[in-house]
Amino acid sequence: MPMSSANPIAVVTGASSGIGAVYADRLASRGHDLVLVARRMERLHQLVHTLSAAHGIAAHPMQADLTTEAGLGRVEDLLRTDERIGLLVNNAGNGKLCSTADMSDADAAATIALNVVAPTRLTRAVLPAFLKRRSGAIINIASVMAFHALPVTTLYSATKSYALMFTRGLQEELANTGVRVQAVLPAGTATEFYDQAGIPLSAFDPAVVMTTEQLVDAALAGFDQGEAVTLPSVHDTSVWTTYEQARSALFGATQVGTPAPRYVA
Ligand SMILES: NC(=O)c1ccc[n+]([C@@H]2O[C@H](COP(=O)([O-])OP(=O)(O)OC[C@H]3O[C@@H](n4cnc5c(N)ncnc54)[C@H](OP(=O)(O)O)[C@@H]3O)[C@@H](O)[C@H]2O)c1
Repeated sequence: MPMSSANPIAVVTGASSGIGAVYADRLASRGHDLVLVARRMERLHQLVHTLSAAHGIAAHPMQADLTTEAGLGRVEDLLRTDERIGLLVNNAGNGKLCSTADMSDADAAATIALNVVAPTRLTRAVLPAFLKRRSGAIINIASVMAFHALPVTTLYSATKSYALMFTRGLQEELANTGVRVQAVLPAGTATEFYDQAGIPLSAFDPAVVMTTEQLVDAALAGFDQGEAVTLPSVHDTSVWTTYEQARSALFGATQVGTPAPRYVA
């Protein structure tokens, strides 16, 4: 794959619309060559054309359905073999907003495949090269639903909790290796996500929805600041600090080796 820049290649999944498309634009403006992954090839071709003309970078579309073995395998092969890749943005994601009982088997399986299996396998595919070089970064797009579940978000929230905990674990593993992983937790963002989710964006209070550009620019600012977890819509960072302290204290409280008196007859 011919590339033009000395900057590492960035692979962005779900780049055909929404958050992924804006990541592609912002990374191109930072001089990264790109591999853009999604199913809708026309959209990828259009984006590749626009970004190469605007930023003088090389961009390649890669059609892959990441819920299939064939699609996922192709992207894994690329990540394993192209040593110029230095950034992976695990952004592709979906989720029907409906109850667990009402969701079709196909939708449940696709959400787990796309939101859990794909980022895990793509991360595992790229990590050996990153570790060998002692450089590289992974950005995992989770969601604020990682720490909140509503009656219509059960499966989606569970997959995004996975994305957050997967990232947190990787950060522990990768300390002092030169490889970075950032979790980004968007709240409501104006994208096509809501078309496939089954609840229109118009059903949400516009006051709690940010633009895709605001979201990605804030997330990249967090990346530049070296943040491990970026919550673009949280103004008061002490809320996150308090949450993390409480989570850590809760774990500490479990490490006593005896049942609590209320469970002992
Ligand atoms: N929008 C929000 O309010 C919000 C909030 C929190 C988190 N997020 C997360 O942000 C990420 C991006 O979503 P978005 O809001 O930008 O929605 P979006 O505009 O619907 O983008 C989703 C992207 O994922 C791709 N995709 C979907 N199914 C795929 C598959 N089977 N294989 C490969 N690619 C697939 C889509 O491309 P194709 O259809 O062309 O394949 C598209 O490029 C997701 O992980 C989502 O969970 C969004």
